[in-house]
Amino acid sequence: MSRTIIISNRLPVKISKNNGKYVLKKSEGGLATGLGDVYKNGSMLWVGWPGIDIPEKDQPEITKQLASLNLIPVFLTQEEINLFYEGFSNEVLWPVFHYLVTYARFEQVYWDSYVSVNEKFAAATQHAFNEGDKIWIQDYQLLCLPSLLREKLSNTTIGFFQHIPFPSFEIFRLIPWRDKLIEGMLGADLIGFHTYDDVRHFLSAASRLTPVTFSSNIISMGNRQIIVEPFPMGIDYDKFEKLPLKRQVLAEIDNLNSEKRGRIALSIDRLDYSKGILERIRAIELLFQLHPKFIGEISLLMVVVPSRDTVPQYKELKEKIDQLVGNINAKYRTLDWVPINYFYRSFSMETLSAMYSVADICLVTPMRDGMNLVSKEYVASRTDETGVLILSEMAGASKELNDAIIVNPNNIGDIMNAIVEALLMPVEEQRRRMQIMRSLVSKFNVKRWVSNFLSRMDDAKLLQHSLK
Ligand code: UDP
Ligand code: G6P
Repeated sequence: MSRTIIISNRLPVKISKNNGKYVLKKSEGGLATGLGDVYKNGSMLWVGWPGIDIPEKDQPEITKQLASLNLIPVFLTQEEINLFYEGFSNEVLWPVFHYLVTYARFEQVYWDSYVSVNEKFAAATQHAFNEGDKIWIQDYQLLCLPSLLREKLSNTTIGFFQHIPFPSFEIFRLIPWRDKLIEGMLGADLIGFHTYDDVRHFLSAASRLTPVTFSSNIISMGNRQIIVEPFPMGIDYDKFEKLPLKRQVLAEIDNLNSEKRGRIALSIDRLDYSKGILERIRAIELLFQLHPKFIGEISLLMVVVPSRDTVPQYKELKEKIDQLVGNINAKYRTLDWVPINYFYRSFSMETLSAMYSVADICLVTPMRDGMNLVSKEYVASRTDETGVLILSEMAGASKELNDAIIVNPNNIGDIMNAIVEALLMPVEEQRRRMQIMRSLVSKFNVKRWVSNFLSRMDDAKLLQHSLK
């Protein structure tokens, strides 16, 4: 039977060590949570890194454990974690693709390791591959992989989807290895991004940096044609809609409601400078300065999930958040109310669902975000159709969720005004907006996203055959 092999840097489960024993946990981040449930239902296999450096002697045991979940591990050494993952992926590609070029460190050793780890993924995939399998590569850590696999498995259907933005050419061209990255991606038959803007930026970069031409959304490269298209990712709407009915979630909702004082604005992100966390906290501070009547009337429930904290900019961001939250809480708190309830940890889906259920407002204000699934999870969780979503215009989700209050995340006054508007918004208006957004998130869910992408991969392959 033909299978789809998904390949991403991070597997949907991560391994950690507890009292000398290996334990499996769900991975965080949109890629893993979005695709993590879907892959189990189809005939799919997933190749990726289990998240820590595992000594060679323990690798066979881990491989066996993961095989029962249809997962195939690619083990990275500590040096590869430092140079490929923290280095090239998260100190070059992540900042540049999120328009924060001053954070980038263009080190040759990072690039060398990036290429060799992409080769390692190619070898692992080739090993798992059976004739007739389709290959679906995910995200920016594996930009060279489509071409590496094309060289080895020339007739195979290969798709590539990037979960983060693709920047404008003037930003992308700054990367010393820019043409190699494009050449790597062009090994795919189908290249997908979340938004039409990302598609345009990629087409422009590809045609300027490599000898290819494009017409509409199809790239011609020698005797191959490559389709480039937007596929806005969705969520498992049914799961988020049903979660608030579970007994455990109902108990957590009761618990949160009994402690609630005033209204709650919720924010949930990985620790990341692209998420606009500091600006959001400053907007809350500005609200208390300019509208003191809201002191004691609204608090921010802020979940920051630990992420990449060995990369210097992430470590610094954590310190700045701690300091700012500390200052604001010290200044504005009362004996029975805290302005910012801050958690630096991850939570189960049940607890997240309870948080979405009790939050009057959800604040999603990234500086840049490929899509942002948290905004869609909030909408799906609002079964009584109330609640207000405040959404950054720089998140891919803002192209779909037009009925959110859309803000410029660099404009702290704009965010503060949006919070005031949300606090004053009549329930009928909340419902009107929420109903439209819920029907959209329900319709364009993650199952549909997966089946659209896979069927376009078949179309892309047919296009190749028609050229021969
Ligand atoms: N998330 C999680 N555990 C947490 C908090 C969040 O698994 O404790 C999930 C959240 O439900 C969402 C994902 O992490 O599905 C974040 O995805 P998003 O697209 O918003 O941002 P990304 O982290 O991919 O940049
Ligand atoms: C984003 C990226 C994913 C990544 C996730 C978590 O969602 O698009 O590729 O897996 O963040 O980041 P991490 O570095 O922990 O894998």
